[in-house]
Amino acid sequence: MAGDSSSGGIRTPMRPSLSSPRLASLVRSVLLEAGDPGDAGEHPLHDRAHRIASSLEDPAALAAAASQETVIGRGGNATVHAIPGEEDLVLRVPRRGGFSSGEEDVSARAERVANPFGDMNVGQPLARVGGATVLLRQGGEPAGMSFSDPAFKREDRDDVYRARIEAAAQMPQSAYDRVASDLLHSNQLGYVWDPSKSNNILIDAQRGRFGLVDLSLRDPGSEYVNSAADVVICLVGNDHARRAPHLDRDLVGPRREIIRRMMLAADRVGLPRGDSPDHISYRYSLSLAGMS
Ligand SMILES: Nc1ncnc2c1ncn2[C@@H]1O[C@H](COP(=O)(O)OP(=O)(O)O)[C@@H](O)[C@H]1O
Ligand SMILES: [Mg+2]
Repeated sequence: MAGDSSSGGIRTPMRPSLSSPRLASLVRSVLLEAGDPGDAGEHPLHDRAHRIASSLEDPAALAAAASQETVIGRGGNATVHAIPGEEDLVLRVPRRGGFSSGEEDVSARAERVANPFGDMNVGQPLARVGGATVLLRQGGEPAGMSFSDPAFKREDRDDVYRARIEAAAQMPQSAYDRVASDLLHSNQLGYVWDPSKSNNILIDAQRGRFGLVDLSLRDPGSEYVNSAADVVICLVGNDHARRAPHLDRDLVGPRREIIRRMMLAADRVGLPRGDSPDHISYRYSLSLAGMS
């Protein structure tokens, strides 16, 4: 979860690098307007999320919804499940002893969860029942190849990993600009996105966008602010690179492209680059891209 990132709390001043400062500032204001969080609190899917949470108040219903067959994502703390017949929402259930189970949450009442992100789409929770939450669904595939990823156990996991890095490198600049803008807003709202696992960002090639998941309120006293380097280390696939060194040569080009596009997005939007020399994980991304 957020806060346990090994990537360090690096902050660097904004560095607009577009040739025309007026163009940079125009792009930035358009993006910020597009990503304006709007009225914090309500979300059009709040009622639906609450209805789903209510239907899971019965511990047996929650345990059934958290079955292995519906798993679409897995992290160190939670398993995420598709909800049959539901396109826009998913169910996140804390893992217990390696399995999803709602059984501990005996007779929990369903509640709406305040949504500070407005109409931004960052996989935020909209309702909860006990420890389980109903989240806005992010489409696409996780980046990299995190240890907890369901694909990690597959025989062809290195091919999957490679395809994900290539897919990230082919995403349009607008997807990079949007994720930079989402992170900037999240920083401003006092949230932290956890970049310690690549699978906390999804690559939605069909819709041409990235989806952030695993955001939490910044710990009191913490000064950690997300940067473009955080996105880079996930998309470049730092997490699995040492297990797949035979791919390094082929992936230099895509990795370089990811770094170029993400840093351009940071400069356009005003997100910190986070590319200081003491950001060890980012240095590793640079070396994987043949840039250091
Ligand atoms: N809103 C969502 N939409 C689609 N997939 C999600 C969503 N939230 C999480 N996932 C998938 O489930 C995985 C685990 O969820 P996450 O909240 O990151 O749990 P953990 O806290 O255990 O890391 C994610 O890495 C992602 O692949
Ligand atoms: Mg996670």
